Amino acid sequence: MPESKKGHGPFSRRIAVLISGRGSNLQSIIDAIRDGRLEATIAVVISNRADAVGLQRARDAGIEAVCLHPRDFGDRDAYDRAIVDLLRDRRVDLVCLAGFMRLVSAALLQAFPHGILNIHPSLLPAFPGLDAQRQALDHGVRVTGATVHLVTSELDNGPIILQAAVPVLDDDDVDTLSARILVEEHRIYPEAIRLVLDGGWSVDGRRVRRHTR
Ligand code: GAR
Repeated sequence: MPESKKGHGPFSRRIAVLISGRGSNLQSIIDAIRDGRLEATIAVVISNRADAVGLQRARDAGIEAVCLHPRDFGDRDAYDRAIVDLLRDRRVDLVCLAGFMRLVSAALLQAFPHGILNIHPSLLPAFPGLDAQRQALDHGVRVTGATVHLVTSELDNGPIILQAAVPVLDDDDVDTLSARILVEEHRIYPEAIRLVLDGGWSVDGRRVRRHTR
């Protein structure tokens, strides 16, 4: 369990966004920066897939976009070390996973202690892993949502920064529910990044505590 007594930040405002696909959360971060709701610079966007639509979104916004393909590296550690080298070179100190569909290894976690965020389409700890919206429908919950959390070595299990609840409607299918959750994802991810970058918080057990100033 991550533990911090002294508190964090403020961070430098250079962030990286790691993606695997569509990149709509990346777009919400780009838009929040452009609109002045989030003071940050996206130093680099990294994808593990060359066909990720999000790479083009980054280039359209004038952001460096890099594909690092896992098959070009020997194993997960070598892959994550290459990511760390790239992030250090670009002087990044907050890493935002946005639909990055890979487990991160110790190499990345140790390089960015309390410095990696993830967004997940459920109210964690419910429905971690793949197909969270399908899991929620199959379970029959009436409320699900979205969670932004610090990344630890356990899948979808780090201390929580922000959550938003979304009702499950009687006629929801995976597509309609996912679309409503996504609206909340796009709202809370830039807000969570802002909170983290502003500093003045610490991790106490599982809880992220904000200090009054
Ligand atoms: C988002 O719904 C995100 O929460 C989810 O992947 C989607 C990526 O969409 N992530 C996970 O399920 C991680 N466990 P995007 O590429 O349009 O941002």
